[in-house]
Amino acid sequence: MEAVNASLSPTANPLKEGLSSRSMPRPCNVVIFGASGDLTFRKLIPALYNIEADGDLPATTHITGFARRPKTDEAFRAELGEALAKFSRSGRIEGVWNDFASRVHYHQSEFGNAEGYRELAEKLDKLDAENGTAGNRLFYLSVGPSEFEGILGKLQEHGLNKTRDGSWARVIVEKPFGRDRESAHDLNEKVSRVFEEKDTYRIDHYLGKETAQNIMVLRFANSLFEPLWNHKYIDHIQVTAAEPMGVEARGPYYDSAGALRDMVQNHLTQLLCLVAMEPPTDLSADSVRDEKLKVVRAMRKWTPEEVAKNVVRAQYGTGVVGGKEVPAYRTEDRVNPESQTETYVAFKVLVDNWRWSGVPFYVRVGKRLPQHGTEIAIVFKETPGVLFNAEQAGLGPNVLVLRIQPDEGVSLRIQSKRPGVQLAIESVKMDFHYKTSFGKPSPEAYERLLLDAMSGDATLFARRDEVDAAWTFIDSIEHAWHENPNPPPMATYPSGSWGPKEADDLLAADGRAWRLL
Ligand code: BG6
Repeated sequence: MEAVNASLSPTANPLKEGLSSRSMPRPCNVVIFGASGDLTFRKLIPALYNIEADGDLPATTHITGFARRPKTDEAFRAELGEALAKFSRSGRIEGVWNDFASRVHYHQSEFGNAEGYRELAEKLDKLDAENGTAGNRLFYLSVGPSEFEGILGKLQEHGLNKTRDGSWARVIVEKPFGRDRESAHDLNEKVSRVFEEKDTYRIDHYLGKETAQNIMVLRFANSLFEPLWNHKYIDHIQVTAAEPMGVEARGPYYDSAGALRDMVQNHLTQLLCLVAMEPPTDLSADSVRDEKLKVVRAMRKWTPEEVAKNVVRAQYGTGVVGGKEVPAYRTEDRVNPESQTETYVAFKVLVDNWRWSGVPFYVRVGKRLPQHGTEIAIVFKETPGVLFNAEQAGLGPNVLVLRIQPDEGVSLRIQSKRPGVQLAIESVKMDFHYKTSFGKPSPEAYERLLLDAMSGDATLFARRDEVDAAWTFIDSIEHAWHENPNPPPMATYPSGSWGPKEADDLLAADGRAWRLL
C-alpha cells in the first residue's frame, strides 16, 4: 500500500502563543515520599531537572526526598546524578545539574515516625525563610496506597497541610487509586480529611503525554473533524495499548491488579473520555473534567452475561519477544502459579449518549505483545461504492489515527486514484509526525504534570468523581469474573502474538477486525 507523506510544518501564530492556559509555577518546596523508589530515579527527578533545564523551575524551588534508608545529601545527589544520565530526555548538562542538585536534599525517616515529620517541618520552615518560598508545599506520595493514611496523618499532626498568608499545600497521589469503587472511596476519604479536593492531584501520566493533550486541540481547533465526530459518520473506534514488556519485577503488584485495573481504569478510560467528550465551556480544570465525567457515566455497564460476550481476558504463555524466549506469566517471579489475573483484556463498550449512540468503542491492552504502541483509531463509515463499482467489496473507510506513542503523530487514511489509464482506487495515508514537524522532542508527561501541580492547574489530573465513576464500570467486569458462579474463561496467547483468538472473534462477530499496528 502506498504512503503519501504530507509533511506538515507548523506555522507559528504569535497570537496563539499567548493562548496557553497555564500560569507560571510558583516557588515551593517539593517533598517526595518514597524517594528511594524507581519512580523518583526514572521519572520524577529527570522531569524536575528538565523543567530546570528549560528555565521553567523557579530558582528557589527545593526538593526533599523522604525515605527510610540512611543516606547523606551527597550520596543521594550522586545516585540521582547517575540515574539522570540514563533517564533524562536531554541527558545531563553539568552546570545545570550542579545548580539543580544543590537544591536537592535527603531526609531519612520511617513513614510512621513523628520525630521525622517534626524535623521535616523544621527543615521546610528553614528553607522557606532562606529562599522566600512562602510556605508553598508540594507533597508527592510515591508510595503504595497502604502508606497513604500514615503519611497523611503525620503531615496533618505536624501542620504540614496547613497554609498561611496565601501560601498553598498540595498533594500528588500515584495510582492505584484503590482496587474497586469501595476501596477507592475509602482512600479518597482518607485524603480528603487532610487535603481539600482542590489541593489533591491524582496523577495519571497518560494525561501528561503530549499527544493525549493534542486530542482536544485536534478536535476543537479544526473545523474539519468536529462536524463528523458522531454516530452519523463514525463506524467505530479502536483504542490499543500494546507493550512487549512482561511484568518485570512487579509480579506481586501486577498479580493483585491485572490489566483492567492497571491500565483501563485510569489511562485508557481517560483517553476514551478525551475522544468522546463534548466541548467544554472553557479550559478550566472543572469544565474539562465535568465533560469527561459525563462520558464515564455514560459508559454502559455490562451484566455478567454481557461481560462473557463483550469482554475477553487472557494471560500470556511462553513465546518469543524481540528475538528472545520469554517465560509464561504464571512462571514469572512472585506470580501465583495458578493466577487468575489477566495480562490482556479486550472489550467492547458503548457510550450511551446522543453523540455516540450505537457506535462501539473497542479497547485492547496487553503485555508481551509484539510491539510497543498506543493509538486511537477513528474508523469512519464508508461512502456508497455505487459510483466506482465497489458495492460488493466496499471502498474502504477513512481512518484517522491518533498515535499516542511512540512516533507521536496523526495520520489519515484516504482513498485515491492510482495513476494510470484505469480507474483503480487505492488507500493512501497522510501522515503528521511530531518529531519532524516540530523538530524537538516533546517534554515527558511528568514534566508537564509536575509543572501544572506547581502552578495550581488540575486540568490534567483525575477528579474524585471521575475516579469513582470509572471504578463503577471496572467493577461491573471484575464482579462478572470473580464473583460469579460461572465466570467466563481465561484465554491464553503466546508471548509475541497480538493476543488470543477470542479477541479477534469479538470484532469478527460485529463484522470488523482489529487494526494492524
Ligand atoms: C503504568 C502501568 O501505569 O503504565 C504499567 O502500571 C505500564 O504496567 C505503564 O507498563 C505504561 O506506561 P507507558 O507510558 O510506558 O505507556
